[in-house]
Amino acid sequence: MKIVITGGTGLVGRYLSICFKSDEVVVLSRKDCDITVFESVRKLFYRIMPDVVVHLAAFTDVDLSEKDPVSAFKVNVSGTNNVALVCKKIDAYIVYVSTDFVFDGKKKMPYSEKDIPEPISIYGKTKFEGERVIANNCKKYCIVRTSRVFGRDGNNFASNLPKRLLQRERMYVTTDLITSPTYAKDLAEGLLRIMEARFCGILHFSNSGHCSWYDFASCVCRYLGLKKDLLVPLSIKDFPQSIAERPPFSALDTSFFTENFYRPRSWQQALEEYLEEEFSQKI
Ligand SMILES: NC(=O)c1ccc[n+]([C@@H]2O[C@H](COP(=O)([O-])OP(=O)(O)OC[C@H]3O[C@@H](n4cnc5c(N)ncnc54)[C@H](OP(=O)(O)O)[C@@H]3O)[C@@H](O)[C@H]2O)c1
Repeated sequence: MKIVITGGTGLVGRYLSICFKSDEVVVLSRKDCDITVFESVRKLFYRIMPDVVVHLAAFTDVDLSEKDPVSAFKVNVSGTNNVALVCKKIDAYIVYVSTDFVFDGKKKMPYSEKDIPEPISIYGKTKFEGERVIANNCKKYCIVRTSRVFGRDGNNFASNLPKRLLQRERMYVTTDLITSPTYAKDLAEGLLRIMEARFCGILHFSNSGHCSWYDFASCVCRYLGLKKDLLVPLSIKDFPQSIAERPPFSALDTSFFTENFYRPRSWQQALEEYLEEEFSQKI
């Protein structure tokens, strides 16, 4: 079996790529294949002829997407369209990783696969458009929505939080943005199972449970033995750096994944393992 991972050098891609033997997986960075250039995708995919494509490449900066919607659209919609068209031609099964940000966050209960997306940010809109492009073009596809992914060297708030707290940085953390944290290692395992089963349709995957950023950061402090007074709780409306509107409650209901595969462990267990693996020597 030949597998291609687009965005393979990103946070999720790095965890996923080590799940395979090196001769069955081709890990693509933007340098290897810029997905916004159709010919680049076509030539490379025809050379490799993958059975499975895990499409992770994306413009993932939520705030920058508001400032530069053209670039977000180019990668997340046009780029995804290029990948989808070539997958259809070569009859490859595609797994597209999407986001809880496709929802508006007004539901107050975890979102299931049956809920209708209503994105409120440019990032959410482009990822939802990407979902439609996949569903409209590909016969064999799975759309996997996930949320608040953290892991080693991740270039996002959740991943950097422990390092910054260990440097005793005082941090503003919101109390009113709730979702389901997901350890990239657990997501990689979930994606692997989905691929092995060639599951088709839409699935939500995250670690079990949900929390605010303040709860998440409090847990980090507790596991690392740090004082919680490093944390400054505040509402999203007072958050200094936020540009994009974010869904207030976008926890994912993972019962459909659980019915078909297994129950993901809790976000607290996953976070504890991540902190143990990455930061235990630095405390
Ligand atoms: N992280 C989260 O919290 C989260 C939550 C929900 C959903 N997701 C989704 O999960 C997927 C993986 O996220 P991630 O956190 O691993 O992202 P990431 O760390 O930001 O990595 C993004 C990857 O996309 C590549 N990329 C960007 N533009 C590209 C282009 N034009 N052509 C080819 N590759 C390009 C990047 O390559 P370069 O490094 O070379 O630029 C990088 O490898 C994304 O689709 C994202 O929307 C993530």
